[in-house]
Amino acid sequence: MNFETKRLDDGIGIEVVGLDLSQPIDESTRRELNDVWLDAGILLFRGIGTSTERQLALSRCFGELEVHPVESIRLEGNDEVIHLSHKDDSRQALYRFDGEAIAGRILWHTDLIYTTTPNRGALLRMVETPEVGGETGWIDTAAAYDALPEETKQRIDGLEARFDFVSNLSKMRFGKPSSIEVVDLGTLEFPEFPDVAHPLVWVHPESGRKSLSISPVQLIDMVGMDRAEGDPILEELVDHTTRGRFSYIHHWEVDDMVLWDNWRTMHYAFGTPPEQVRVVHRTTIKGERQTGRLL
Ligand code: SIN
Repeated sequence: MNFETKRLDDGIGIEVVGLDLSQPIDESTRRELNDVWLDAGILLFRGIGTSTERQLALSRCFGELEVHPVESIRLEGNDEVIHLSHKDDSRQALYRFDGEAIAGRILWHTDLIYTTTPNRGALLRMVETPEVGGETGWIDTAAAYDALPEETKQRIDGLEARFDFVSNLSKMRFGKPSSIEVVDLGTLEFPEFPDVAHPLVWVHPESGRKSLSISPVQLIDMVGMDRAEGDPILEELVDHTTRGRFSYIHHWEVDDMVLWDNWRTMHYAFGTPPEQVRVVHRTTIKGERQTGRLL
């Protein structure tokens, strides 16, 4: 192997140590990286994301890249990269959580769950690190599924939930912090997406593992159930998954990169105090499988 692996502190995910991105990645290394990724779901690469070219070269080891459907966040000059920034020119929303102003916070979510074909994965690179805050968290939703009581697994088997593109966090229905106030909704423009349904339990096409698909930011309700019946099931699943047992939180250094399997994880951008500068670039790895259907 042209790299070593080290389990991350929280027991979720793997750090890849000693990978050399100054040379093209050969086929056997590419295969080994994919095996480790499939096994762990989250891979950390410390300090080696020194340029967009290196980020793109590493991303391509894991599949074809996809242009993100939200045009307003694409990096100028390179459509395969999205640029999320909080800087003087920030267009991101600003919220107050429990009285504290936070920029760039995005609560637990799965990418593109508001489409029928969520991406396979994504690779996030820290370009400018804030002095305070800016962490990102990941949850292994396969571990969360495994830890469910057998009776719950049977109860949710075959059920579907409805998801929508929610650009205003104060409108979330599940997993919303008790006090959230909008300070400024920002100026990013978002297209309209029709509602979609996804099974609550996803079966990973490569590993066969089951995971919970409950992305709270975009979760609306259960399909075919009234809210009085469906909401308690969703509340219980969101609470079980996000309580902290299945998560890894990364404290970024510049040029770190984290890759996640979007078919078995959710992630959370903690955001920063508004005066902090933070810039990240993300690539999106295409998913060929359709898990959802238009409603
Ligand atoms: C994302 O949700 O893809 C961004 C995560 C982050 O900025 O930490």
